Amino acid sequence: MAESKLDGVGGCVFDAYGTLFDVNAAAQHCAGELGDKWQPLAELWRGRQLQYTWLRSLMENYADFCQVTGDALDFAMEALEIDDSDLRRRLMDLYLQLDAYPEVAGVLQQLRGGGMKTAILSNGSPKMLGAAVDNAGIGPSLDAVISVDRIKVYKTAPAVYQMAVDQLGVAASDICFQSSNAWDAHAASDFGFRVVWVNRFGQARERLPGRPDVVMENLAGLPALVGIGEA
Ligand code: LAC
Repeated sequence: MAESKLDGVGGCVFDAYGTLFDVNAAAQHCAGELGDKWQPLAELWRGRQLQYTWLRSLMENYADFCQVTGDALDFAMEALEIDDSDLRRRLMDLYLQLDAYPEVAGVLQQLRGGGMKTAILSNGSPKMLGAAVDNAGIGPSLDAVISVDRIKVYKTAPAVYQMAVDQLGVAASDICFQSSNAWDAHAASDFGFRVVWVNRFGQARERLPGRPDVVMENLAGLPALVGIGEA
């Protein structure tokens, strides 16, 4: 639950994958075919996907998140000895239509309806984010959908977080950034955002620079926390 109130916030910015959209949903939808491999596949896929973003940024060898996601899936499928090109295609298609978490649409609507600026700031490519936003029907509740693809470097580069400041025209210290990815939450805090770590999965605290201001289990309490709706 919330530990403190966030006053004076002028914009709420959201990480996409894991925060708004359920990254395990694609593998879970194929649980019938994958059997007890669906969870290991989902974990390996997500783990390699993130590692490849960090490594590619260090290598200064950017490829968009769609390619990185496909490369990570190829690794995960080979590691688990799953050789099925139809299933691969289906998993990648499903990644474009990931389920949003149940509270997401209502929370975004409430924030925007209360006059808050709202945006997604994500590693996702514009095509992937556009598809996920359309699928969840949350486009009308967002002022901006910002992709790292414009600057071709991934989180946790400070230049990524700066894009939200520039696009929303809100100072970093007046932006509240939400992420379920603890490493992203720490990096955004280190950059200068106020940060809500949406600890959906009961994970341990990271030992990284920065410090989330508030920890919540999901996004339901966010509007009240930033002074919108009932306190
Ligand atoms: C994103 C990844 C980090 O949406 O979840 O940027």
